[in-house]
Amino acid sequence: MPFDTMSDPADVSTLVILGGSGDLARRMLLPSLYHLDADGLLSPALKIIGVARAEGDGASYVKDVKAAIESREELDAAAWKRFAERLDYCAADVTKPEGAACLAGKVGEGVRIIFFALSPSLYSAACAGLKAGGVIDDKTRLVLEKPIGRDLETSKAINAAVAAVADEANVFRIDHYLGKETVQNLLALRFANTLFEPLWNATAIDHVQITIAETEKVGDRWAYYDEYGALRDMLQNHLLQLLCLVAMEPPAKLDPDSTRDEKVKVLRSLKPATRASVIHDTVRGQYGAGVVEGQQAASYETEVGRPSDTETFVALRVEVDNWRWAGVPFFLRTGKRMPERLTQIVIQFKPLPHSIFGTAASEDLESNRLIIDLQPLEDISLVMMMKRPGLGDTRLQPLPLSLSLAKTLGDDGGRRRIAYERLLLDVLRGDRTLFVRRDEVEQAWTFVDGVASAWAEAGMKPRPYPAGNWGPSGAFALIERGGRTWND
Ligand code: BG6
Repeated sequence: MPFDTMSDPADVSTLVILGGSGDLARRMLLPSLYHLDADGLLSPALKIIGVARAEGDGASYVKDVKAAIESREELDAAAWKRFAERLDYCAADVTKPEGAACLAGKVGEGVRIIFFALSPSLYSAACAGLKAGGVIDDKTRLVLEKPIGRDLETSKAINAAVAAVADEANVFRIDHYLGKETVQNLLALRFANTLFEPLWNATAIDHVQITIAETEKVGDRWAYYDEYGALRDMLQNHLLQLLCLVAMEPPAKLDPDSTRDEKVKVLRSLKPATRASVIHDTVRGQYGAGVVEGQQAASYETEVGRPSDTETFVALRVEVDNWRWAGVPFFLRTGKRMPERLTQIVIQFKPLPHSIFGTAASEDLESNRLIIDLQPLEDISLVMMMKRPGLGDTRLQPLPLSLSLAKTLGDDGGRRRIAYERLLLDVLRGDRTLFVRRDEVEQAWTFVDGVASAWAEAGMKPRPYPAGNWGPSGAFALIERGGRTWND
């Protein structure tokens, strides 16, 4: 979707990756930048500098980055040569002015981008160090990976440290879900068509389901994950962002503030959790041993090596307390070690008020459903009731009206882009539309803190579920109590 270009990417001289040898840089950022370069989307003058504490130099970094990208795809020799020439490395602790001063000797003039791919506990000190070392100036753009803090208080402290060195207009808080193709398609579906808007409310919609299921274990990331859990790692950001895009009012324009103003209003409308409501409306789970994709899978506690009260699954019934959505439940769930990888939004319309068909055909009736698949499929389909072909008694069946680009246009859209590609390009252009504003992050934490403290008050510990299952049985009860079911 074409968003307005706010500035010329050629103005950017240097992109610095703090945590340049870390997991995020190796798996996502450097492959994304390599792809953008291969597609001719990076300015010839752009330098990319990886920063980490470990000893090393430009040549060793080039070797590392090559190995990281080659582990996922074959390199194109010419594109790699061009990309490698941009790369440099700086062994420095940027939380200290001396470390930052060393980096200052390597960065170019013009606009600099600093990507924080570090532990959030270092963000504040890194901001102060980089400012004191002369790396951050008035034009520098700061890109902050989630999570911004662990709760409202820590998030405010990070945001204040960031605000002390950079104007909010230069701060890009990443939620990589907003870079996914189908998420942007959701905006097109809602706001480039007249069909759905009159139906997009409590009169026509029964409920909404948003699922982010992963087959992955927590594995090596347990030290981070055990502190956060599914509520803070996935719901605070990705799930709530998807909810905002479904529930928000049409923004006046697709510009950074109009869109984000509408998202914040949704977050402010979320009904706060209470001790009583979490018992009925939330489920916490933690995977035990089981079988995932045909393989034996160890329990979360085995991975961590000790007992843990951290949830690896969470499901919530949430209400958006405003005129449009009064009485429409939003069911959100996410978990690790689920039976399949699935990210899906389901808009379930209300049932027919009256059936004119005979008893048998009436039993076939299902309510219309709009299914937005983000991954592994990228597809949007509207499930409609149709008559089964034949001369006998009328029978009905649900059939999907598919908006899949691959099927409809006979085009698979080429290579699946990494969500970070789109977002990095937007940072280079200075377009903040797909990034999260300070008040949005803080409002999301306000809601999540409410859930976490209500869990603590109610003494709610995670319930076990065998790896390879859709969470604890309570997750089914949560939705089935209202006569509804998950769209698995
Ligand atoms: C990250 C979480 O933000 O998103 C991870 O920290 C999770 O725990 C990942 O695995 C999922 O992203 P995706 O794009 O693979 O769905």
